[in-house]
Amino acid sequence: MRIDIISIFPEFFRALDISLLGKARQSGLVDVRVHDLRDATTDRHRTVDDTPYGGGAGMVMKPEPWGITLDHILGDRSDVSGADAASAEPGASGREVDASEADAPEADDRPIVVFPSPAGAVFTQSTARRYALERHLVFGCGRYEGIDQRVFEDTARRARVELVSIGDYVLNGGEVAVMAMIEAFGRLIPGVVGNPESLVEESHEDGLLEYPSYTKPASWRGLDVPEVLLSGHHARVAAWRREQQLERTRRVRPDLLPPELRGTDGE
Ligand code: ADE
Repeated sequence: MRIDIISIFPEFFRALDISLLGKARQSGLVDVRVHDLRDATTDRHRTVDDTPYGGGAGMVMKPEPWGITLDHILGDRSDVSGADAASAEPGASGREVDASEADAPEADDRPIVVFPSPAGAVFTQSTARRYALERHLVFGCGRYEGIDQRVFEDTARRARVELVSIGDYVLNGGEVAVMAMIEAFGRLIPGVVGNPESLVEESHEDGLLEYPSYTKPASWRGLDVPEVLLSGHHARVAAWRREQQLERTRRVRPDLLPPELRGTDGE
């Protein structure tokens, strides 16, 4: 898989050299390239933002450095020149889609360009599973009050564009959101995690939160490991874990459950 990241803070992504994804990069499973947006500026101050048309507080990221950087990553725009370019409005094949709509299977092997944004569709485990199977993902990290809207429209002429939020709160920019997304889907890329079975019994994989885990010693500071886990009875252990998952999900995240499982009076 190839991953391109565009940011005015490329040093944020040094952490990708370490841990699981660092190993995947070294082994050639994942090819990560980080691009400094300011390298595509032409003025002495390497300016990437300007005041918003129509007025208002804050600054907006200028389209030109984005266009140059994305041309470099996605190939130049010769394929959308002339008549094609004129008709290449976002729509039909090249439109902006939200992540839930993009979950539908479709034979479109163009790269996905993800713009993290609090105005995007929420990133979930299902988005992570989908991204883990892509060949080429590009992440464009915005800062300030956002990116000129035409960048999304121009990019949608030659890639699948997705605006994605990692939750209902506002970050200063997309960098931390991209790190979270890469961490979530990177471990699902086939071959990255040594033992894929370890991915199965996790929170969100089966729609429930995970069950509590224990290791030795069996008693610690007066707190005992639940008896059933010491029983060696696999069916009883499995039933207890399932019950714990349901109880925890009902208590902490009832929104994840279908209405018939939300009640507290037995299953
Ligand atoms: N940029 C700012 N806030 C964000 C969020 N919640 N998710 C993704 N990108 C963001």
